Amino acid sequence: MDIWEKVASLAKRRGFIFPGSEIYGGLAGTWDYGPLGAELKRNIKNEFWKSMVQERSDVVGLDASIIMSPKVWEASGHLTSFSDPLVECKKCHHRFRADQLTEKKCPDCGGELTEPKQFNLMVETYLGVIEGEKLKTYLRGEITQGVHVNFKNVLSSTRVKIPFGVAQIGKAFRNEITPGGFTFRSREFEQMELQYYVRPDLKESMKTFEDWKKERMAWYVALGMKKENLRFKEHAKDELAHYAKAAFDIEYHAEGEWKEMEGIHHRGDWDVRRHQEFSGEDMAYFDEETKEKFLPYIIETSGGVDRATLFFLMDAYTEEKIPNSKFQIPNKSQNPNNEAREETRIVLKLHPKLAPYKAAVFPLLANKPDLVNVARKIYDDLKKDFMVAWDDRGNIGKRYRAQDEAGTPFCVTVDFDSLEHGDVTVRDRDTMKQERVKVEALEAYLKEKIK
Ligand code: GAP
Repeated sequence: MDIWEKVASLAKRRGFIFPGSEIYGGLAGTWDYGPLGAELKRNIKNEFWKSMVQERSDVVGLDASIIMSPKVWEASGHLTSFSDPLVECKKCHHRFRADQLTEKKCPDCGGELTEPKQFNLMVETYLGVIEGEKLKTYLRGEITQGVHVNFKNVLSSTRVKIPFGVAQIGKAFRNEITPGGFTFRSREFEQMELQYYVRPDLKESMKTFEDWKKERMAWYVALGMKKENLRFKEHAKDELAHYAKAAFDIEYHAEGEWKEMEGIHHRGDWDVRRHQEFSGEDMAYFDEETKEKFLPYIIETSGGVDRATLFFLMDAYTEEKIPNSKFQIPNKSQNPNNEAREETRIVLKLHPKLAPYKAAVFPLLANKPDLVNVARKIYDDLKKDFMVAWDDRGNIGKRYRAQDEAGTPFCVTVDFDSLEHGDVTVRDRDTMKQERVKVEALEAYLKEKIK
């Protein structure tokens, strides 16, 4: 199994990610986040919001609607230019993206392919109740335009001054020709973006562009992604999107392949200029100090929440050889069943800030009410501050394995000594070391470790 298959298998087994509409045979390009996946994704989005909005004085947040006037997409260029080259096999009728094929024949049956034609990725929808009078519109293909159409609203309702940014997180939809690579290319996905408005000065705006490149790369590293698995890739002039003046991707190294995770784009004044043209509204910014009026340049950072989730999982996925707990005999001649001396431990070494559960609480034995009552009290108290798991099934070794796969940084066990001394065993996910901590000091101990 390669890392993609291993992560997909763990994601299903432990409740991170399930195929969408699975009991009906699935729906290509859609995914459902299970109990652990929902937490992981929420933690990623919270960290984005914290660093991009909460901790900054030059960025505000926004939450625009998914369905917008179709004129928005005319103005943004999505109806004419948001497309991929599609080819179809003349024999088996399977469809492919021409730019992803290495040979000019069908990869499934070897058949002859049609000439490429441009296929628009926007997902259509219809609003209204009367057949024939329904308004044809689109589920947003990027979350970006909801920010730009509100540029003037943000200016008039807040105290922001250029340079400033508007951050947003939300769903986007694309009718991808070939969804795949687990959640990597989905038809419904989430984006986390910043649109940063600056003066229309190429030199100055390129400096801001460089600053945001560094800032976004540092964010992934601060949340534990290994530096060696990250790089920038510059878009060549002929790869640039229809609006872009410059663009770099932050790529993740997944099993020998570099894959796009986030884009940092210099959009020029494309969006505000086009919305001014198509809506007839004056989108210019008036600088009170210099008395200048201008359309700002836009620097965008556009990350995929699902891709970040996938790559945080991949990066954290670790297989370690540890001594087999069942096999304690050091001498092979005394090991008649020839049991392996080592077993493989699968552990998700997620940053504690991203881990779905920060701690798990176990009573050593489920049938000893004294142990269960103390453990339950600890569990209920800790739950007020962060996500905590409870497990009283099977032996402690099995519970540790389950929490290792869930990425839980700490396991807290209440045993018979706890009843006598008022302390618990805390086991560290990464080092597997255990230490005794007084119950009254536990909350502070964990908070210090997971911050
Ligand atoms: N507003 C600019 C924009 O949307 P993009 O490069 O098309 O730029 C930005 O998309 C990010 O959104 C990508 O880097 C990727 O992380 C994510 N993304 C794009 N298409 C996706 C898809 N089909 N499935 C999952 N994530 C996707």
